[in-house]
Amino acid sequence: WKMTSEEIFSAGPVVPVLVIKDVAYAVPLAKALIAGGIKVLEVTLRTDAALDVIKKIADEVPEAIIGAGTVTNRAQLQQVIDAGAKFAISPGLTSDLLKAGNEGNIALIPGISSISELMTAADHGYTHLKFFPAEASGGVKALKAIGGPFPHITFCPTGGISPSNYNDYLALPNVRCAGGSWLAPEEAMKNGDWEQITELAKQAIAGVK
Ligand code: 3PG
Repeated sequence: WKMTSEEIFSAGPVVPVLVIKDVAYAVPLAKALIAGGIKVLEVTLRTDAALDVIKKIADEVPEAIIGAGTVTNRAQLQQVIDAGAKFAISPGLTSDLLKAGNEGNIALIPGISSISELMTAADHGYTHLKFFPAEASGGVKALKAIGGPFPHITFCPTGGISPSNYNDYLALPNVRCAGGSWLAPEEAMKNGDWEQITELAKQAIAGVK
């Protein structure tokens, strides 16, 4: 069965953007985040281990809603589907990726940082988008302004989001979740400090206003 973008956004509201260098981190990291109350996980295709990490979490941590990030083309979308991802997120969009997303059997969340990109995504039927890089692209002010002409487009902003500003985004009517890499510091993974990651997740969830 296919999870919709709406279901994925609603399972947030905080989405860790994960850059995982070692497949050995996959299961303890996923379990640490879940213990902290976070089940939507975005594993970015920025490391050689990423596809194996997705596969491992899909196989061994069924409570996780495991997805792939940094999916930039049709071939990568197919790779993450094959690895067991339940959704895919892209920092941007191309018409070929949007078409592949409509043909594929998992939800694709394309990224935009301009109105014309939003319109291209909407033309292809996409209503749930990543706003990236959020802070550098105008942040809360930009999303507020975009909500004027496009109130029915829903966003998950990422890029420059932290404990100090995520509530500003989540307070917007057109934002359903917010993502960031702050939830899984590389140092903590290296040190096997899974408790720290659980604690960061707990704080993020408890801090949602
Ligand atoms: C992403 O791909 O969403 C970003 O790299 C996450 O940005 P951050 O590191 O600023 O949280």
